[in-house]
Amino acid sequence: MDNRPIGVFDSGLGGLTVVKELMKILPGENLVYFGDTARVPYGTRSNETVIRYSKQCIRFLLSQDVKMIVIACNTVSSISLDIVNKIFDIPILGVIEPGAKAAAQSTKNKRVGIIGTQATIRSKAYEKALAKHDPEISIFSTPCSLFVPIVEEGWSNTQIALLTAERYLDSMKGNEIDTLLLGCTHFPLLQDTIGKVMGPDVTLVNPAEGTALEVERILRSKNILNLEGNEGTYNFFVSDLGEKFEDIGGQFLGREIKCIQKIDIERY
Ligand code: DGL
Repeated sequence: MDNRPIGVFDSGLGGLTVVKELMKILPGENLVYFGDTARVPYGTRSNETVIRYSKQCIRFLLSQDVKMIVIACNTVSSISLDIVNKIFDIPILGVIEPGAKAAAQSTKNKRVGIIGTQATIRSKAYEKALAKHDPEISIFSTPCSLFVPIVEEGWSNTQIALLTAERYLDSMKGNEIDTLLLGCTHFPLLQDTIGKVMGPDVTLVNPAEGTALEVERILRSKNILNLEGNEGTYNFFVSDLGEKFEDIGGQFLGREIKCIQKIDIERY
């Protein structure tokens, strides 16, 4: 039993899609979320910068006395997970492995598509993780960078989103995939639009769901679940408090956000 919070971080607000799943599956756990809103996006940055930023995010969460850390960001998980796991003495989980596992379980024809930021696709982290589950799976990947600002602008269900999705996914449609992995925190908000483009025969996999299940498994196996039986408390921290934080954050989380505090991430 351990009632300390779980720490979750992301380059910005997108990681709240992972928090949403954690709240569903582990309603009794306390959560501390950090969104690096001053330095988002990470997806177009170099590996060196992403690694430096992720170490700072982890140091901040450690200052909040968390019992485990979830890297909600696909870009950070792709690039930094192995590195930070060697440095910090705390369980740290990324979204890649749970996402790859869910996609491997979903595909029947062994043809899987992956979409994400430029950095995530360049890293080939999902490819490697999928190949470990089943080397016979054929993988088709493509970066969809514009999806991130489209979601942040609140345009997920507009004609602009649909046209952008058609442009990005046109070639993907020719690959006869039956599963498409949404390898970016923002993409679950485009689920309806992406689903329209890919059609009903393609299953869309949101890594956030498998990640939350894996968090539960880790807490259980380490005997550090919070068994107090109360509803969890949630604290949200950001590195820049923009006007739209509450609106956009609320969209990602699917509920109102309270208690947002701004911190100086460069101090960590
Ligand atoms: N959170 C990032 C991801 O999941 C998307 C936003 C960014 O580029 O920082 O890859």
